[in-house]
Amino acid sequence: MEQINNHLFKYKNYNFIKDLTTAKAIDLLQSFEVRDSDIYLVTYLKSGTIWAQQIIISICELDGGPTEYLNNSEQMPWLEYKIHDADYSLRVSPRLFASHLTPVLMPPGVKDQKAKVIYVMRNPKDNIISYYHFSCGNSNMKTPESFDGFLEDYLNGNVPGSSWFDHIREWHLNKDQYNILFLTYEDMILDLKAAVTKICSFLGKNLSEEAIKQVVEKSTFKTMKKDPKANYEFIPKEIFSGTFMRKGQIGDWKNSFTVAQSERVDKMLQEKLGDLSLKFIWE
Ligand code: A3P
Repeated sequence: MEQINNHLFKYKNYNFIKDLTTAKAIDLLQSFEVRDSDIYLVTYLKSGTIWAQQIIISICELDGGPTEYLNNSEQMPWLEYKIHDADYSLRVSPRLFASHLTPVLMPPGVKDQKAKVIYVMRNPKDNIISYYHFSCGNSNMKTPESFDGFLEDYLNGNVPGSSWFDHIREWHLNKDQYNILFLTYEDMILDLKAAVTKICSFLGKNLSEEAIKQVVEKSTFKTMKKDPKANYEFIPKEIFSGTFMRKGQIGDWKNSFTVAQSERVDKMLQEKLGDLSLKFIWE
């Protein structure tokens, strides 16, 4: 384990937020008992995690799943961050989990092709802007001195979650080992109903048109911003003074990136992920 700064430690080649987990908790995931019925939402930070979380939870609730949880974070807890101190082995199926981990750090049982994984990717420029704003006013993270300084840390993988490029690469290269659905933030923005329908079908949930409409309504930016169960406003302001529901748009990067910064990301994309033929929607 290597201490990176006051907020971060590196373990097994991945940067964790110091106040939220330990190396021991990460090791324990290697013996975490996975159920075939488990659903794992995996993302790199700031890719639309709490959005997809709201969609999956709403689908499961309308399919007769539990509704008693106080908020989405309790209902679909983070695997690697022990925030709620709950015993997940006592939960009824299907259990829902969220994670920002890379494949090698996930419980090995997820790989048996039965537990379902939903992976959401966002274009890296909007991801950077969202992450930059998230880091400002977040006591669990280093406060960026400037956007340029943050960009440098992000591109070098010196942020919680390490490198966006490695995350995308590792999940795509290992995809055949998982029962996995890849979605993008941009596809969800452009056609939320189609994304909800795709998720329903992947999860084997046969919801009516009316129920799908309800999931869509519960998952719009406008509704989520006001929904205390979904918008993470329960996080104390002294820990995070910003908002998870910031702009919710494609292309906000254009308001902050210089041409040189944008070209730098393009070049890294080509160098690091060019062979994967990924398609990005930038605006
Ligand atoms: P912005 O900061 O660009 O607004 P995460 O949940 O992984 O932390 O991602 C947060 C990003 O997802 C934020 O992006 C947030 O606004 C966006 N988001 C959350 N819910 C959304 C929704 N219903 N529609 C569109 N974007 C949403």
